[in-house]
Amino acid sequence: MDAALATKTVLSAAPAGDGNLLRFITCGSVDDGKSTLIGRLLYESKTIFEDQLTTLTKDSKKHGTTGEDVDFALLVDGLEAEREQGITIDVAYRFFATPKRSFIVADTPGHEQYTRNMATGASSADLAILLVDARKGVLVQTKRHAFICSLLGVKNVVLAINKIDLAEYDEKVFQRIVADFSAFATNLGFTSILPIPLSARFGDNVTTLSDRTPWYRGKSLIEHLESVEIGRDLASAPFRFPVQWVNRPNLDFRGFSGTIASGRVRAGQDITVAASGRTTRLTRIVTADGDLDEAGAGDAVTFVLAEEVDIARGDVLTEPKSRPEVADGLSAHVIWMSETRLQPGRSYLMRIGTRWVPATVSAISHAIDVNTLEERQADHLALNEIAVCEIQTATPIAFDSYADNRGTGAFILVDRTTNETAAAGMVIRSLRRATNVHREDLALDKAARAGIKYQKPVVLWFTGLSGSGKSTIARLVEKKLHAAGHHTYMLDGDNLRHGLNSDLGFSEAERTENIRRAGEVAKLFVDAGVIVLCSFISPLRTERAFVRSILDEDEFVEIFVDTPLEECEKRDVKGLYKRARAGDIPQFTGISSPYEAPAAPELTLPTLQEDAEELADRVLEHLRDRAIAGGNWASP
Ligand code: ADX
Repeated sequence: MDAALATKTVLSAAPAGDGNLLRFITCGSVDDGKSTLIGRLLYESKTIFEDQLTTLTKDSKKHGTTGEDVDFALLVDGLEAEREQGITIDVAYRFFATPKRSFIVADTPGHEQYTRNMATGASSADLAILLVDARKGVLVQTKRHAFICSLLGVKNVVLAINKIDLAEYDEKVFQRIVADFSAFATNLGFTSILPIPLSARFGDNVTTLSDRTPWYRGKSLIEHLESVEIGRDLASAPFRFPVQWVNRPNLDFRGFSGTIASGRVRAGQDITVAASGRTTRLTRIVTADGDLDEAGAGDAVTFVLAEEVDIARGDVLTEPKSRPEVADGLSAHVIWMSETRLQPGRSYLMRIGTRWVPATVSAISHAIDVNTLEERQADHLALNEIAVCEIQTATPIAFDSYADNRGTGAFILVDRTTNETAAAGMVIRSLRRATNVHREDLALDKAARAGIKYQKPVVLWFTGLSGSGKSTIARLVEKKLHAAGHHTYMLDGDNLRHGLNSDLGFSEAERTENIRRAGEVAKLFVDAGVIVLCSFISPLRTERAFVRSILDEDEFVEIFVDTPLEECEKRDVKGLYKRARAGDIPQFTGISSPYEAPAAPELTLPTLQEDAEELADRVLEHLRDRAIAGGNWASP
């Protein structure tokens, strides 16, 4: 494979195409003639492709397909998501076009990580070409590929019976392979299967029908690719918009940015936040090129809503009448992609849409033998194994079944320690747990405990250098909350280090443990319905992210007390900086130990510009805006 053409993407980057664009995947090994076939297609379509990216952009424009942004997003989104998480999946997307249609071929290298790459390519494909060597017939690998394609919702299959020249263009060979495959594939749910006798090498039946196979009366491969009907599933599915980020450049603008996963919206219509059920009007659809009246699957847009509704990254906006499931349990097909076995009970990070949530495989319902499609009991899964699993998420998430929506029904599981993508998953259905029902009979849960206090429990996490003013501001905020009748508690680094954490020093490992304990304690207070103010240097991003991860989505408010080091050192309230400079205190944050400022805190408090009183008011304003405290919070 040409390295310059290689790019990477991740599963679930599956935006919609338009009618003039066909995405397909080729499955088979080099031995089956895969590269020859792709080379042949590119050659016959006379596409000159020097650099994939420029060709993709240029040709999309030339053909005026609305898919142009989408195609680009497929590459770019994938790359960004990957860089963020260190997920590496290799798939080369090649672009070519004939006068009738444009094509994107996902070409997946055939090494041992093949299943992973194939799943990635298939997740956005409309069609799969399954390559079979005419002399070898249907192999286990062919069945595996067909099965994975069917799991990933590929509806159209071409059974490319290649090297037919080496089988003397024999119709009987062709028919036998077709019969074998049909027997296997009947229950896989494909809407079309077209078997074609091919010689990629000599070009038989690639562009035009070959007179060496007069017995074949179907279409040539290119004719079929040009004309096969592809369901516009994502474009016609209900509207889904996973929020990528909350866009708030100034106090006058609050928008929600992301890429529409499926369906269409019009400015002026009502939309609903899936998890909370809050409905409001969509006032504007903003793009870099101006506002739109309407937008659809694959469009990257920013929404402005009529009311200030509590929406965070990872939330799904949806149409009011056709909402996704919201649950903390689901059953799914899982393709295990890691060398490390899947053990039920272990915690992974699930990425579904733009949402990251801790998730546990609670049970393997059954594994599936890819050769026979038989179900068998399993207590673990090894590399490339496929199973139906039950998965529990730490908090309820919004999703659809993969059969209904390839955009919102696909997820990946990431190993928390190695950051490796351990599995690809396709939701089958939700498993509602009894907790959702209990609410009605007022089980004594967090919401009930918070309810009698008329507040929403939350952690206000103040981070910043020693002496930056964290505790001072936190104490002021606590006083104001208390005065307004809220039930609060204060956890402070200095104080905890005298009791619960008195065994901990300031090495990186000890600071990690310090924050872990503080986070767990804060979580208990949240469960008790209390507003918890935490004041810790908490210098490391991963530790703060951990605390965020063990709480519900909107329960962690990260507040960066932004005081430059020079200023902290100048103030030196406790005289510690002076001692640290003199070498008396090792590993002192900012001097001899790092401080990682938050990348996207909910609030930044610049202490040089405003005084503590004003900054405390800013915190309260934020809580009011988010309906956490301050009067307009409705009890459940
Ligand atoms: S954290 O880094 O683990 O989050 P924490 O907030 O609990 O720190 O405690 C910080 C407080 O401990 C500082 O405000 C300071 O008073 C004191 N301290 C003592 N040694 C150090 C050190 N080496 N680095 C930072 N703070 C220290």
